[in-house]
Amino acid sequence: MALPGPLNRYLLLMAQEHLEFRLPEIKSLLSLFGGHFTSSQETYGKSPFWVLNIPSEDIARNLMKRTVCAKSIFELWGHGKSPEELYSSLKNYPVEKMVPFLHSDSTYKIKIHTFNKTLTQEEKVKRIDALEFLPFEGKVNLKKPQHIFSILEDYGLDPNCIPENPHNIYFGRWIADGQRELIESYSVKKRHFIGNTSMDAGLSFIMANHGKVKENDIVFDPFVGTGGLLVAAAHFGAYVYGTDIDYNTVHGLGKASRKNQKWRGPDENIRANLRQYGLEKYYLDVLVSDASKPSWRKGAYFDAIITDPPYGIRESTRRTGSQKEVPKGIEKCPESHVPVSLSYHLSDMFFDLLNFAAETLVVGGRLVYWLPVYTPEYTEEMVPWHPCLKLISNCEQKLSSHTSRRLITMEKVKTFENRDQYSHLLSDQFLPYQGHNSFREKYFSGVTKRIAKEEKSSQE
Ligand SMILES: C[S@@+](CC[C@H](N)C(=O)[O-])C[C@H]1O[C@@H](n2cnc3c(N)ncnc32)[C@H](O)[C@@H]1O
Repeated sequence: MALPGPLNRYLLLMAQEHLEFRLPEIKSLLSLFGGHFTSSQETYGKSPFWVLNIPSEDIARNLMKRTVCAKSIFELWGHGKSPEELYSSLKNYPVEKMVPFLHSDSTYKIKIHTFNKTLTQEEKVKRIDALEFLPFEGKVNLKKPQHIFSILEDYGLDPNCIPENPHNIYFGRWIADGQRELIESYSVKKRHFIGNTSMDAGLSFIMANHGKVKENDIVFDPFVGTGGLLVAAAHFGAYVYGTDIDYNTVHGLGKASRKNQKWRGPDENIRANLRQYGLEKYYLDVLVSDASKPSWRKGAYFDAIITDPPYGIRESTRRTGSQKEVPKGIEKCPESHVPVSLSYHLSDMFFDLLNFAAETLVVGGRLVYWLPVYTPEYTEEMVPWHPCLKLISNCEQKLSSHTSRRLITMEKVKTFENRDQYSHLLSDQFLPYQGHNSFREKYFSGVTKRIAKEEKSSQE
């Protein structure tokens, strides 16, 4: 296959939110649609303008049907650091590539998009008039044009230091918008069934995208809560399944999380959430089950495991069991037995989760989960490892001045063998990091210290 040349350049206009999550999202989606992330741009840090090579317009359109991190994509016709540079780059763009969109039977409109500066109407008109050297032969139609072209001007990121002239100017043919509107239409504020830790809609879609969820996949959430992550996966056409240790959550019983409502109403459950969005056909089931004791037959059957395990801050980290030592092999309980629960250490939880994913994911399937960290102590070595799973991305979301959670994405790269579950005994590198266990104490000690500091400074 020929390498995409400079003529396959596209401009992505990214949303300025969840900056760290953007690159893994775009890379994951491109690989899902058979593309490859290639670009001559050096950094994608904070800028909303990304120039990439994409092999075809179809792949670009598929990408936009999924992304919540990108706002729009344009076929890039020209780029420069000054108007003159832009015009000469446009003059070099092959006319035969422009003509299908500019011929006399077509209608078009030119839009201006600026970042970090607002232009007057007069300035905008001037910029459009300066493009008259392009062979536009169609008619202008502002309401329903067949083709939309955009001039995009980048005035940098610092709102306190806006330059007179843009750093970069782009001109391109608009191809498609991304899925930003899902953030509003799936907002948990309007969701039928929610809990204290329901996952934000935008992040749920990002997680499903990092997990490369696709139509007819089977997606599992072992800490399902109110099913926020299942909703996003089902929206992308996956069949969804979950478990949670909490009977009330799974059955939609108990206290409501909304203000002005004491108890959960009838039919407040995950299935009803999917129904709310017309996705009920993707509901497989949710069960009460303890993630530390998975009740699954051996085998690889999940295409993705996407989950938000408890950190012990707003929900407890519990597992079934007894404080008394039970000799291995006689753990079976009579059916009438109601198990008591004991604390589930975070390090054990992540260790179990990785082992479970390594065993039950199909090869190529992805595990996406949140890892809470105490930032002053964080190092990459703390991220749990497994010999069957390759780390794909690790993105930080700050929670407070001293804590954050990291969205970890791993891909299963080899078939699970029995000895893999004992990998931590064979190599130190797979030993669970025990420091996660004190996350709760550190979180609250930080909060307590901060409150004490704030109180002290308000008294001074
Ligand atoms: C952070 S919440 C998940 C929220 C969920 N993503 C949502 O959108 O509602 C974590 C969930 O894990 C559950 N949980 C805690 N310990 C568990 C265990 N040992 N096995 C299964 N679920 C557990 C809690 O009951 C809680 O519902």
